[in-house]
Amino acid sequence: MTGYRIALIPGDGIGAEVLPPARALLDAAGRRHGVTFAYDTFDWSCRRYLAEGAMMPDDGLRQIRGHDAVLLGAVGWPGVPDHVSLWGLLIPIRRAFRQYVNLRPIKVLDGVPSPLRDATGVDLVVVRENVEGEYSEIGGRLGRGTEDELAVQEAVFTRRGVTRVVEYAYTLAESRGNHVTSATKSNGIVHTMPFWDELVAEVAERHPGVRSDKEHIDALAAKLVLAPERFDVIVGSNLFGDILSDLAAAVAGSIGVAPAANLDPSREFPSMFEPVHGSAPDIAGRGTANPVGAMWSAAMMLDHLGHPEAAADLLAAVFGVLADGVSTADLGGTADTAAFTRAALDRLGAA
Ligand code: NAD
Ligand code: IPM
Ligand code: MN
Repeated sequence: MTGYRIALIPGDGIGAEVLPPARALLDAAGRRHGVTFAYDTFDWSCRRYLAEGAMMPDDGLRQIRGHDAVLLGAVGWPGVPDHVSLWGLLIPIRRAFRQYVNLRPIKVLDGVPSPLRDATGVDLVVVRENVEGEYSEIGGRLGRGTEDELAVQEAVFTRRGVTRVVEYAYTLAESRGNHVTSATKSNGIVHTMPFWDELVAEVAERHPGVRSDKEHIDALAAKLVLAPERFDVIVGSNLFGDILSDLAAAVAGSIGVAPAANLDPSREFPSMFEPVHGSAPDIAGRGTANPVGAMWSAAMMLDHLGHPEAAADLLAAVFGVLADGVSTADLGGTADTAAFTRAALDRLGAA
């Protein structure tokens, strides 16, 4: 028996609705493979912010530092400004734990209709830079409320930060389709993006077996809709990777199915696994959220912890249920979260 300690942060809205299903599948897959999980649940959320004035305690990062991994639902709720809630919890975890890779696989799955006429063969991974870039606290606002009011927001790109995530993307491509597309905007953004391109070219030279493409983010967005099957690994900055991952997930049917792994490849710190989607206040409380993104994220966690067979079992159960035509409302189905989860658990037990 191998045992792990997992920090669970359900968060807000449907985050708290999709995490228990993910946990149930994790336990079931673990049982079949001699892996056990002990969970510590943290109530860090907008609810906590409104009651106590902070998303997490002062020593919150220390409290989860020793866990083997973090599984998070989603954070953010009307009434708390998003930049306050996210910079009070999610983003500090990514940065403090040096989770500089945000890995977001996207596949068109059997039983999941794409909004595109033909989306067969879509199987790509967005590798998103996760700790620097456009997400920075450097900048400010001047002249609030005046005619001359202005806001300045700096983007920070470092040689080390860009090189390591691009290196990760190229190495990943070598285990997949040997093709990396870099998302850039060096025609319009004159300092950071030409630097990004130069660093990508340096890494590409070290991986002569990998085909390298460079696409401006606007054209890339269009190509992702017109010919998504042409992509293998897409590497992008923090903001570009964020946008592309929702776009690609929608191409594959719904952002409800998309998973994410926030990885510290050095393994000095725990990595964090969470669906790509947010707290979805528009559907929260109804029990209808699609739990697939959270379940797939749990499978990525199993994989990261060194249990690829258990991860594959978990995913086969989830994908099998979808292929059987059972799905939630975002995919046009009639199953609620609980019914989908029961079907996936049954299949995992029966497999
Ligand atoms: P969202 O992902 O919460 O929702 C976008 C749309 O997709 C909504 O119509 C929602 O109903 C639908 N949707 C999302 N996930 C779904 C699921 N699993 N099943 C069915 N439908 C689903 O994005 P948003 O509306 O931009 O953000 C809402 C809040 O969530 C904001 O506070 C935002 O900052 C936060 N957010 C948090 C995270 C995170 O914690 N990782 C990620 C994204 C957004
Ligand atoms: C995501 C989310 C977050 C991000 C927000 C909520 C800060 O959109 O995880 O994709 O932009 O990283
Ligand atoms: Mn996002």
